[in-house]
Amino acid sequence: MINIAVLGYGTIGSGVVEVIDRNNSSIDGKTGDNIRVKHVLDLRDFPGDRVESILVHDFDIILNDPEVKIVVEVMGGVEPAYTFVKKCLLAGKSVCTSNKELVAAHGPELIKIAKDKSINFLFEASVGGAIPIIRPLCSSLTADRILEIKGILNGTTNYILTQMDVEGWDFDRALSKAQELGYAERNPEADIEGYDACRKIAILSSLAFGKSVNYEDIYTEGISKITATDIKYAGKMDCKIKLLASSENIDGKYYAMVAPFLVKSSHPLSGVSGVFNAIFVKGSEIDDVMFYGSGAGKLPTACAVVADVVDAARHLNENIQTIWSEEGLELTGSENATRRFFVRVFGKRSECENRIKEEFGAVDFIEIPEDTDGFGFVTPALAEKSFDAHLANIPNVSGRIRFE
Ligand code: NDP
Ligand code: HSE
Repeated sequence: MINIAVLGYGTIGSGVVEVIDRNNSSIDGKTGDNIRVKHVLDLRDFPGDRVESILVHDFDIILNDPEVKIVVEVMGGVEPAYTFVKKCLLAGKSVCTSNKELVAAHGPELIKIAKDKSINFLFEASVGGAIPIIRPLCSSLTADRILEIKGILNGTTNYILTQMDVEGWDFDRALSKAQELGYAERNPEADIEGYDACRKIAILSSLAFGKSVNYEDIYTEGISKITATDIKYAGKMDCKIKLLASSENIDGKYYAMVAPFLVKSSHPLSGVSGVFNAIFVKGSEIDDVMFYGSGAGKLPTACAVVADVVDAARHLNENIQTIWSEEGLELTGSENATRRFFVRVFGKRSECENRIKEEFGAVDFIEIPEDTDGFGFVTPALAEKSFDAHLANIPNVSGRIRFE
């Protein structure tokens, strides 16, 4: 019997208990032992719930229980998660978490403690929900040099953009539904402002490149400024708007960014809809591999957490090596990245057309019936810093979106 404890009985925590109950015999068969949830920690009581009799409010009961070998941390946030997780690891208990805030902020330190103690700190569910991406980066892809990671790493924002596009919902309705479905963070600003995707690309980049990428160094834009009209313009240009997170190693310089992009309908990422995520990894020898699946949600994410529990149970006194050095990786700014931009302007096209051509040369103008107050144009490919300099000379700009 291997006793585990679950910290946090919210969306994912209740999913973890449900998956272990529902798939009990298959999980035990794959573990080679019997996995039992001995304690669940939460702030609330759950009268009549399956966990009522094993619910505790005092973390020390779990910390001081020598029978608990594996702890699942699914409370979210940095504190008290960091303090609890560190204490568990120092007490010789393996930890499995879905908490990307914790992993992005303290991953290398917690990995090192686990290594020193010959136990495990596993975090497959912290990126991409149900999608296996951490394990492939740490094992299947270790023979190659990773050059680029690019993808849709946030289920809530992809769900919002899809519902706005396909169903014509407004932003607030789509966000409320994403919250109701259990996709969104407790503070959904983390989703819609891109911070969640930023932490995830920092985690993937750190694993891919072997040194710590500080998420605070990553240029990050969210989708809160994307409007229904932008989505109509995207349709007119045969594109979808997607929040993309990316990192690249170009000749030993490292770049990372999170921002909404216009993605042509012929691009594989344009077809990634709803809560689904997709991640491309480009290696110098393997070329592209793509990972795809549910990026958020109770049971898909819980399955990834429980798979980590199975792995930790199979390696109770043996560390599964994760290469993520505490040494920092310096990122280079993206001001020289060259791409096309879509720009929206308030006012009549005839009044600013010449000015726009003077600044940007041969642009493509776009007009749609839904935008009665303005028009759009697409620039030729140019560097970000040059684009910004020219854009500053155009009056009444109401928005801009990069082209993938
Ligand atoms: P929830 O808010 O639904 O659940 C968190 C639970 O932890 C709540 O029941 C909360 O109690 C409890 N909790 C918070 N602080 C404490 C504490 N100090 N002591 C005891 N219990 C506490 O969040 P989710 O389940 O959605 O997410 C959990 C983690 O998983 C987060 O890091 C999230 O980013 C990550 N994640 C979530 C996914 C999803 O689809 N939802 C997917 C992938 C990862 P109370 O409500 O009373 O405050
Ligand atoms: N809020 C996150 C998302 C949960 O929507 O992707 C999964 O990490």
